Amino acid sequence: MKKTSLNDIAKALGVSKALVSLVLNNRGDEMGINKETQRKVIKMAAKLNYKPNLVARGLRLGASKNIGVIIPDISNPFFARIARTIEDEAGKLGYHVTFVSTDENPQKESRLIRLMLERQSDGLIIASSQPNTADILNLRRDNVPFVLIDRYFPQVKTNYVVVDNHKAAYNVVTHLINLGYRKIALVKISPEYLTPIRFRLAGYRDALRDHGIRYDKHIVREIPFGEGLANQMEPMMHDLLFRPLSVEAVFFLNNSLALAGLEVINRMNLRIPQDVAIVSFDDIDVFRLFHPPVTAVAQPYREMAKEAVRILVKEIQSPHKRNEKSQMVFAAKLEIRRSCGFYK
Ligand code: RIB
Repeated sequence: MKKTSLNDIAKALGVSKALVSLVLNNRGDEMGINKETQRKVIKMAAKLNYKPNLVARGLRLGASKNIGVIIPDISNPFFARIARTIEDEAGKLGYHVTFVSTDENPQKESRLIRLMLERQSDGLIIASSQPNTADILNLRRDNVPFVLIDRYFPQVKTNYVVVDNHKAAYNVVTHLINLGYRKIALVKISPEYLTPIRFRLAGYRDALRDHGIRYDKHIVREIPFGEGLANQMEPMMHDLLFRPLSVEAVFFLNNSLALAGLEVINRMNLRIPQDVAIVSFDDIDVFRLFHPPVTAVAQPYREMAKEAVRILVKEIQSPHKRNEKSQMVFAAKLEIRRSCGFYK
């Protein structure tokens, strides 16, 4: 079926193509086109099933008013909240967004970056699956506006918005030590080169060291991102919680790990915190409803997303200032609840 063009609408109404274009690009009022004419144009466009060619529009106007958001997993509550706030904030500034998930796969991320650029995204917000430094360097070389969020490349000067993962993890372990725990296990997600995971592990190690507790590699475990998470958690928790390891507390380095770990502990009919204290990095709604409520590190996702949009739109709209890069490091907040216990 032939696609309706601006010309078709103009001929049907006996007006110019330019007038139709202005109306359909929300510039009718700005250009003094009367409301009745605007209404007729919009009605005819709907009647003829007009679909704007966003790629052509982007090429012509040099601005698609679209922001590409590339994140590991849109179904993960942390990224879903980030995505929603980006969408709301971008909308206030006249931009719409396109979301894609990389599944923590650098090759897939490379393809998605190219796809977004082919579709004329004006700029990108990326929670990178790393370590695809080449893609980031290419974006910089090509002067593409982009902001990294949650993860960043310390060796490359870019815009980024992250939390202080090291300090947040250090505070968690210090809190547990102050409650009297000494044998504190850590469960992280692979790959470790993801900067949030790398810096949380470093915060864990530094807190143990600063409190005179030896780092024990046997109680630091790793689970790969993806499907295997649930079925690998059960044997790992059995190994950590029973003899000879018998850990007193478990620090999960993200929400998915903590949910899987809590499910296993429930199945094992163990008591929290009496049998084992639990802390999660990332706070999600269900942790407040859990019994007992789960102690968690809350990342300021709204502030992170708002800052990422602010930096990106500023860069999109100020091409001459693209050498100036912005870095924002937010503090995360430890929400202390009963899962870490006061029983020591
Ligand atoms: O799974 C979500 C986690 O991964 C969050 O902690 C976020 O920081 C991301 O890196």
